[in-house]
Amino acid sequence: MKTRMTELFGIRYPIMLAGMNWLTTPKLVAAVSNAGALGVLASAQYNTDTLREAIREIRKLTDKPFGVNLTLGIGDASLIKVVTDEKVLIVNYSLGRPPEITPLIQAVHAYGGKIIGTIASVKHAQRSERLGADALIITDYEAAAHSGNIGAIVLIPQVIDAVKIPCIAAGGFADGKGLSAALALGADGISMGTRLAATKEAEVPDSIKEIWVKATEEDTIIDPAFDGINCRVWRNKAAEDILNKKSFALFDAISAGMMMKKALNLSWKQFIQTAFKMMGRESGVGGGKKKLAAGMRFAVGSRLFYKATIEGDVTNGILVMGQTVGRIHDIPTVAEVIERTVTEAKQILAKMNSQIAD
Ligand SMILES: Cc1cc2nc3c(=O)[nH]c(=O)nc-3n(C[C@H](O)[C@H](O)[C@H](O)COP(=O)(O)O)c2cc1C
Repeated sequence: MKTRMTELFGIRYPIMLAGMNWLTTPKLVAAVSNAGALGVLASAQYNTDTLREAIREIRKLTDKPFGVNLTLGIGDASLIKVVTDEKVLIVNYSLGRPPEITPLIQAVHAYGGKIIGTIASVKHAQRSERLGADALIITDYEAAAHSGNIGAIVLIPQVIDAVKIPCIAAGGFADGKGLSAALALGADGISMGTRLAATKEAEVPDSIKEIWVKATEEDTIIDPAFDGINCRVWRNKAAEDILNKKSFALFDAISAGMMMKKALNLSWKQFIQTAFKMMGRESGVGGGKKKLAAGMRFAVGSRLFYKATIEGDVTNGILVMGQTVGRIHDIPTVAEVIERTVTEAKQILAKMNSQIAD
């Protein structure tokens, strides 16, 4: 398949792996790139040394293009330098704001790399284009984790009409129906998160793979209560408890904060800055009490995501998950997901083409 996305990144298929903290290990990233799509490594879980090692490990596992995702609002800002020092050719930023975005774009362009900005609104799409992004990921309401309030069918064409650069649709894409629909809406390709995580290559506990197969599209909820900004997760008891309480015990927040500070490799200063940034996104204003509440929310949410995703405790932890889980019924290899998505999309596009009367 040939679209502006395949041309820009030098890949075979207009499909990318969504950067997913904890899930997109070097093995999964390389498997996606080797299958002809674009593997992307999320970086927030690493420190500068382990990120450098992970990038080098991917280079050992594949000679195909791959990217790194930087969550500019969360985590250690010194990771940016690792990515640019390593001259990673495709860099995707999310949750970014202008003071952080501009130097990153300049640094990546200086060595000939390409930048993908993740956005969830027309306004942010236009801003990313203005700042120099080469492509966009449009995150719709269906997506796992953080998103805006607009569904794919409206948001994708709205963004496509507002910008000129290639756009990749994210959130809810799991098969050829999704790929052909995204192309029909004007996108240049798709980003798959939950679907490409639910594969043999994903290095997650089996308890999580079982949930991905069993859960339906009705089983997720989206709310800012989990980590400070609208975040879509699996509806289990742990998630419902947070929604019902909407607040946390101070003791929980402190112990979760200590644990997540270590897991995300943050200094106390970085940890507190991250929590405040998340709060800023939630409410838009400062204020001592709100900042403390946001810090607690971020700490407890992050701890519960870690508990489910890494420790496999799907009862007490919270699993970040998209509505697309309803379209997932098996755990194939990455190559199988990519091949059948492309085959199905080609059949649909050919059928649509044949329906055009002379
Ligand atoms: C466990 C998990 C972790 C995620 N971490 C990140 C991240 O670190 N950076 C980011 O930009 N998006 C992150 N996302 C969001 C994905 O990049 C993507 O937008 C989403 O998975 C798309 O929805 P889908 O799962 O329906 O395909 C994460 C998603 C999941 C499921």
